[in-house]
Amino acid sequence: MNELLQILGSALWFILPAYVANAAPVVLGGGRPIDAGKKFTDGRPIFGAGKTVQGFIAGLAAGTFVGLLQGIAAGTLSHYLVLSFLLALGALLGDLLGSFIKRRLDIKRGDAAPGLDQLSFVVVALLVAGTLTLPSWERILTILIITPPIHLATNFGGYKLGLKSRPY
Ligand code: CTP
Ligand code: MG
Repeated sequence: MNELLQILGSALWFILPAYVANAAPVVLGGGRPIDAGKKFTDGRPIFGAGKTVQGFIAGLAAGTFVGLLQGIAAGTLSHYLVLSFLLALGALLGDLLGSFIKRRLDIKRGDAAPGLDQLSFVVVALLVAGTLTLPSWERILTILIITPPIHLATNFGGYKLGLKSRPY
């Protein structure tokens, strides 16, 4: 039991910058879409209007800021700064990839893609950050298991708070 809690805690600690990078654009995003409204070869949006330049930059900054705080707390600032930047970058790229796939499947901006919506950001965050630090397989597995319910719960919270128009 104690060991399980320890793995859960260390998994959350590791992935936290990715979570914050994924959530920040909901509050801080908006404006010009990354794809500038352009269409892909299939005639549908490349990413869609929900992926903005401002959201991307805000997510990168917010995720890295979490790493700054973690670095101060842990006493290894440079490690956490680089790690959190990679986690945030991966999270935002993974979120973009998710939207790219959704548009190819003709799923409209904001419509649900169960699985993809909850996991694309965290999988790519782990892949990108893995070039620097690969967590233990127990932690990776824990992250993959806890992320969908956490994502759904925070999105529902954001909906209740009026930050999002959809509850998922
Ligand atoms: N957002 C943003 N820039 C990003 C990512 C997200 O501005 N790079 C903002 C948008 O306002 C978006 C909201 O965060 O609507 C929620 O993000 P998400 O659920 O990922 O986007 P959706 O609007 O659902 O679009 P998609 O169907 O492409 O996932
Ligand atoms: Mg969405």
